[in-house]
Amino acid sequence: MTIRLERPEEYRTVEELTREAFWNVYRPGCTEHYVLNQYRNNPDFIPELDFVMEEDGKLIGHVMFSKAELVLKDGTRKQSWTFGPISIHPDYKRKGYGLKLLNYALDKAREMGVGFLCMEGNIDFYRHAGFDLACKLNINYHAEPAGAEVPYFLAQELISGWLKQNGINEATYCPPKGYFVAEENPQAFEAYDSTFPKKEKLRLPGQLTTC
Ligand SMILES: CC(C)(COP(=O)(O)OP(=O)(O)OC[C@H]1O[C@@H](n2cnc3c(N)ncnc32)[C@H](O)[C@@H]1OP(=O)(O)O)[C@@H](O)C(=O)NCCC(=O)NCCS
Repeated sequence: MTIRLERPEEYRTVEELTREAFWNVYRPGCTEHYVLNQYRNNPDFIPELDFVMEEDGKLIGHVMFSKAELVLKDGTRKQSWTFGPISIHPDYKRKGYGLKLLNYALDKAREMGVGFLCMEGNIDFYRHAGFDLACKLNINYHAEPAGAEVPYFLAQELISGWLKQNGINEATYCPPKGYFVAEENPQAFEAYDSTFPKKEKLRLPGQLTTC
């Protein structure tokens, strides 16, 4: 198993992988492959933290990172970071690959000076990589009341004490705009998605109810 930076000639394959990984998981179909497709041209995208995982001679995993912002109570904006989508091909799920890929990427991010990460995800997976509820670090989620315990909103100081060192006692996180490209331009998304093999969109138990 190898983890290395994504190469431009692999972009389409990695988007196919992302679509396979996310299809019908959080909503009927998925949009994460389009987010990735658009994000590589976004100034928030961090090419040095855009990793693929290879196994059995094929690409089976991918993760990307992004710059993000934390907003303090007085409106001051502080540079921070987030990551995702993270994908493991369905044939390779729940075999430890996702955690290996994530831990590798987190180590590289820390080496680059990424001190703090927050993101939305399932704590049952991310706690294995050191994440906990963001509210425990006084980080609020933009769509919820300040101080609320939001079970899917997670955070981690990659560099211990980073929040304090940066004068952040409490802040609010809003995901970067680039994550909402599919919602902002549904027609462009549909046109892009139609270039992939047709797959059935299903409403399944466990999907997000708001989608
Ligand atoms: C989420 C994902 C990246 C995890 O990768 P993975 O290789 O399947 O996970 P791992 O085998 O490394 O999991 C390690 C541990 O995390 C936990 N875990 C992993 N996926 C989980 C899930 N979907 N729900 C609950 N716990 C999970 C388990 O405790 C697991 O250990 P176990 O299998 O021995 O019980 C992968 O399943 C995936 O691509 N899913 C679809 C896309 C997605 O949801 N991405 C994340 C968006 S936030």
